[in-house]
Amino acid sequence: MAALDLPTGMSTTFTGANGSGKTTLALTLAGLLPPLSGHVEASPAMSPPGLRPRGDARTDPAQWRSKELLTRLGTVFQDPEHQFVASTVADEIAIGLRALRRPAPEISRRVAELLEQLHLTRLAKANPFTLSGGEKRRLSVGTVLATSPDVMFLDEPTFGQDRRTWVDLVRLVTAQLEAGTTVVSVTHDSDYLDLLGEHRVHLEAAS
Ligand SMILES: Nc1ncnc2c1ncn2[C@@H]1O[C@H](COP(=O)(O)OP(=O)(O)O)[C@@H](O)[C@H]1O
Ligand SMILES: [Mg+2]
Repeated sequence: MAALDLPTGMSTTFTGANGSGKTTLALTLAGLLPPLSGHVEASPAMSPPGLRPRGDARTDPAQWRSKELLTRLGTVFQDPEHQFVASTVADEIAIGLRALRRPAPEISRRVAELLEQLHLTRLAKANPFTLSGGEKRRLSVGTVLATSPDVMFLDEPTFGQDRRTWVDLVRLVTAQLEAGTTVVSVTHDSDYLDLLGEHRVHLEAAS
């Protein structure tokens, strides 16, 4: 691939056969994997403040600290369980905000608001691993939404959802786009593509 742009505020989708490199590309753009070749450049407007020893560090997401990623590039993994680290649903959502040392009242407010939006309020004290597939997926999206990243990467967000949880999920993503977030989704889902395939990137498997 010569060059790929993720237009600000738009929905970009990555499609392609299994093994074509969609997940690898998304994780690379999200600053979680060093590029196999080439380079990733974030818009200077997104760059963390402060000077770094290496020249390109401010626009190279792979060199950002995890705290700096939280408000800039959020990633929802294909398997929600890979994301869970807390013992309750509410704590899971609060983790990023705590890492950012946000004031306690603000954290409580944001967690309550997200639980409501995600239809998870009654499960606030449950262990994330005991949730149903649809609930786990919504929670994994919520943990990333909590810190309001500028760009959100979603790896097969609708996989394993039923009709109702699918609708909830698409609503959440649409609301993020309306709020100005740039959304990048890896997907095989043609209904999702119809609604959110504003900017489509198709990956060909290497031969
Ligand atoms: N640009 C690349 N060059 C070489 N190997 C790659 C590249 N992108 C992905 N791979 C490898 O190909 C395999 C499948 O990639 P993955 O990103 O999981 O594909 P997908 O998500 O489309 O199923 C992985 O082992 C990955 O390390
Ligand atoms: Mg994948």
